[in-house]
Amino acid sequence: MKKIIHMSDLHIGYKNFKERFVDIIDSLLEVLPGNPGQYVVIITGDLVNNANKKDSYQEAQYGLDYLKKLGFKHVLVIPGNHDYGTGNRGKKKFIKLFKVSFYGKEIDYPKVDIIDNIAYIGLDSMAKELNWYNELWAQGQLGKKQLSELENILNQNKIKACSKRVIYLHHHPFKWRPLHELKDSRKLHKVLKKIMDKNVSIDAVLFGHNHEGKPHNGKWGIPRCYDAGTATLKPRPKYVDWAPWFKVKASIRVIDLSRDPETDYIVVCKYQKDVLGAV
Ligand SMILES: [Fe+2]
Repeated sequence: MKKIIHMSDLHIGYKNFKERFVDIIDSLLEVLPGNPGQYVVIITGDLVNNANKKDSYQEAQYGLDYLKKLGFKHVLVIPGNHDYGTGNRGKKKFIKLFKVSFYGKEIDYPKVDIIDNIAYIGLDSMAKELNWYNELWAQGQLGKKQLSELENILNQNKIKACSKRVIYLHHHPFKWRPLHELKDSRKLHKVLKKIMDKNVSIDAVLFGHNHEGKPHNGKWGIPRCYDAGTATLKPRPKYVDWAPWFKVKASIRVIDLSRDPETDYIVVCKYQKDVLGAV
């Protein structure tokens, strides 16, 4: 069974974060056992810091191409609020641009990939956040249509026949924070509970957005619920940076679904050691 490398919130385009992403990839290659083809890399949004900034997508793509060149052939990405604009204000034009840039074509969400009999289901938590009346702030919303499509997908025989199911999205589905929450998280819970009540497991929910990097394992009865933090250690705005409970973490996790969650671990990259001394 392939292992998962979960990272999030790269914010490429901000300072030297393109180089930090390359450093992260080099570090993974150096420390991970086995060959890169044995891993599925999942990046849960905010690939770029500001989609409006020229060449941001190309800079992120450079890193993704580098991952693939080194043999990480399974790389799954999903958009975050910064991938559609400034982070606080998004534009609809980026929906198509993101798809074309990172999937090579227009696709629909949920995005389903079955790799070695594991179903990876990616959600776009910015789907309903780009109208004039809700484009401000950094909240997320999946919307009725996407949730009903998710329910259909989870009930498909080919998905139920998979040995595991992994859901990934950008916004934090559990932890409420003013103006940063996934607004329809209760509805997402309802959809997942319905399928779990039929004895179909949801094995992991992976997300980012809050930059805190904490595990929330066991929530909603799901064994793995991981916030991957910000792989490049993007700092928070100064007015919240002082608060120790908002401290940013990189939390790049290696997840082995065939083992207990306690065996999952965090990879510390070279740049982190240089920048922070210890992490
Ligand atoms: Fe972010």
